[in-house]
Amino acid sequence: MKEKWNERYSQVDFAYGETSNEFLRSSLKHIPVGKILFPAEGEGRNAVYAATLGWDVFAFDMSEEGKKKAQLLADKHQVSIDYQVAELDQISYEQDQFDAIALIYAHFSAATKSDCHRVLQSYLKQGGLVIFEAFSKNHLPLRRNNPSVGGPDDLDMLFSIEEIKSDFDNFEIIQLRENVIELNEGLCHVGTGSVIRFVGRKK
Ligand SMILES: C[S@@+](CC[C@H](N)C(=O)[O-])C[C@H]1O[C@@H](n2cnc3c(N)ncnc32)[C@H](O)[C@@H]1O
Repeated sequence: MKEKWNERYSQVDFAYGETSNEFLRSSLKHIPVGKILFPAEGEGRNAVYAATLGWDVFAFDMSEEGKKKAQLLADKHQVSIDYQVAELDQISYEQDQFDAIALIYAHFSAATKSDCHRVLQSYLKQGGLVIFEAFSKNHLPLRRNNPSVGGPDDLDMLFSIEEIKSDFDNFEIIQLRENVIELNEGLCHVGTGSVIRFVGRKK
């Protein structure tokens, strides 16, 4: 798995572009800056964007090549981010410390994805927000029709509204929808996709 991501990120171009995710941008507009965590952050487009807004940014990903690209992007925008190369089970942040956690296409393995969500929410302060966008289970036929839109081809790695409600059952739901959207993110998210968008506040 790690080899796949390192290979993808070792190209000159950014796999998901240098521009941050649109849902993240619109969600951050409504939130005062604070301390934010970006799990599975790849080449850093979202983390760097948050840093340009003044957030205190932490990120991690299993890919060394992802971190190199993220550092290049951070340097380009003259911001700094704390980016660790690690898998979630190798990381331990202090509990209850983040004001927000942004899960943008953080597709963890099928066997661990719900456990990952549980661990991550323990790092969020009470009242803190989760901002989430990732492919839904209904994405699979769209991906088969157009592989350029990307996303996992394993149904169990994709998400449903019910799974998100269950994984984040101690959250107030501010927004939870499944949308079919047009993606134009770099080389690897191009075309029509079905996504879950969620913003929730930890009770
Ligand atoms: C589709 S990419 C998304 C990258 C980034 N969030 C973005 O939107 O540009 C998924 C990322 O998840 C990372 N990943 C998957 N499982 C992981 C795990 N258990 N620990 C750390 N990173 C993981 C991969 O290395 C990859 O960079």
